[in-house]
Amino acid sequence: MIYAQILAGGVGKRMGNSDLPKQFLLLGSKPIIIHTIEQFLLVSEISEIIIGCPKDWINFMNDLLKKYINTDKKITVIEGGPTRNETIMNACNYIEEKNGLSEKDIIITHDAVRPFVDTHVIKENIKKSKKCDAVDTIIPVSDTIVEVKNKDSITSIPIRDNLYIGQTPQTFNIKKLIETYKMLTKEEKEILTDACKIFVLKNKDVSYVNGSEFNIKITTMYDLKIANAILEVGTRND
Ligand code: CTP
Repeated sequence: MIYAQILAGGVGKRMGNSDLPKQFLLLGSKPIIIHTIEQFLLVSEISEIIIGCPKDWINFMNDLLKKYINTDKKITVIEGGPTRNETIMNACNYIEEKNGLSEKDIIITHDAVRPFVDTHVIKENIKKSKKCDAVDTIIPVSDTIVEVKNKDSITSIPIRDNLYIGQTPQTFNIKKLIETYKMLTKEEKEILTDACKIFVLKNKDVSYVNGSEFNIKITTMYDLKIANAILEVGTRND
């Protein structure tokens, strides 16, 4: 089975003083997360969409689904975890308890706050996941990246051609994801900001597909302004 998970377990602290978690803020006429869910509904191969959101916002999320989404497809809202990766593990556990797991089951994980994900990228993730247990979505960096380790001076300037930006979706064989996550130490879990790193830390292959510059993550108010501009002009480059 092919499952999708929309990661909405955060509260958006870097957004500033909004009372609403950022995934529920309006982008145009609809909450950001609704735009995101709509993209996943366009991919027919996905059999269930699981939304992981903070416990106190589960009823709110279900109300949004009633108001904005008209579909026969199964969408389930579950409680998110204290970290992004724990939110993903909650979905894996939910699937295992409800349906059991086969060797081939995959989960496409995606940030609720990346509303401009292209269905082509989701489908490419599904395709690549047949050959590799972990798949990332990346784009090349256009700026030079510098590393500052001691706060005083620049410690290195990696070669730009080797650097990419990690986006989502990130897609995993569910059994392999659970197995590899269990191999991590508490310290390793604490430094993770990214689910593909679970595999990288254990020297396991992570494949990738090419993302898009429009697939931005809305982190700050500035990003929300950019997202509104993208909504107006569209996500085509011509
Ligand atoms: N996320 C999640 N579970 C968590 C933390 C984050 O599902 N425990 C989700 C967020 O809801 C978001 C995505 O992961 O859609 C990307 O994370 P980020 O932009 O860091 O979101 P927040 O944690 O909400 O932001 P902040 O760090 O500013 O509080």
